Amino acid sequence: MSPAGREPAADARSRLSPRELRAAPGQVIGRRIACFDALPSTQDAVRDLGCRGAPEGVAVFAETQTAGRGRRGRTWISPAGRGLWFSVLLRPALPPERLPQIPLAAAVALARACRQAAGVTPAVKWPNDLLWEGRKLGGILAERVAPSGRPPFVVLGVGINVDLAEGELPPDLRGLATSLRAAAGGAPVDRAALARRALRELDAGYRRLAAEGFAGIRAEWRSLAAWLGRTVEVRGPDGAWAGTAVDLDEDGALVVDTAEGRRRFLAGEVSLRDVPRSALSGRPVAAGPPDGP
Ligand code: BTN
Repeated sequence: MSPAGREPAADARSRLSPRELRAAPGQVIGRRIACFDALPSTQDAVRDLGCRGAPEGVAVFAETQTAGRGRRGRTWISPAGRGLWFSVLLRPALPPERLPQIPLAAAVALARACRQAAGVTPAVKWPNDLLWEGRKLGGILAERVAPSGRPPFVVLGVGINVDLAEGELPPDLRGLATSLRAAAGGAPVDRAALARRALRELDAGYRRLAAEGFAGIRAEWRSLAAWLGRTVEVRGPDGAWAGTAVDLDEDGALVVDTAEGRRRFLAGEVSLRDVPRSALSGRPVAAGPPDGP
């Protein structure tokens, strides 16, 4: 039995394997895949590969992480078989000022993957969270690495709670996080199908960003952020600001109208405490397209 007293879904128990996640022809993200039972953090594994010159697109999955981390040094709880915990090596040919667009494109890609694999479309929260009914369903961690004597690269980490029970969370996170299974009304979610979709959508979004620029991804991101137009609090590098979140701009900055005028944030944390849950849900989708092999 799980700590919460219920049996894990059959899909949650089966291990992910590179064979079942194999990339489609031409796909860069996921063209090489490694799956581990346990790692301290998939971020560190991919960082090591990047420093040793591994090619773009390598993806590392772990069933569990013993030192999973989130943004701002927070711990990321990653129990075995309960979620997708993986990182991808990127070598983007983008100017540094466009790098913040990568996790925004990833959030859109992962929202699509959740819809395709589980019939649930999460909301996106700036800069890189996935939400369902205001609770955190997943998070994205983009780390830029600049090894000496080698070109810099980006490690893109993804954590999606697939079948995480409330009781598996530390007490301070209960009520703040949720899982895809809960969002799907308790229906089991096939982790391998979700992982395949995630890699394919990440790949498509990353190419689109490079080939077409940010405009299309920005439009899709805004459509998944029903909280735009509401009152938020942003803790940025130079303090906390309350105001109305008006937009995501063409650079990927969050634009907020504060009492002291309009401000742009390229980094920070947003609090949506006063936003009703109805604006913090994705939209349930009646039927997603069938999952292919
Ligand atoms: C956040 O919301 O703070 C980002 C969470 C990112 C978690 C993922 S799980 C796979 C990868 N390995 C880590 O240690 N972190 C990322």
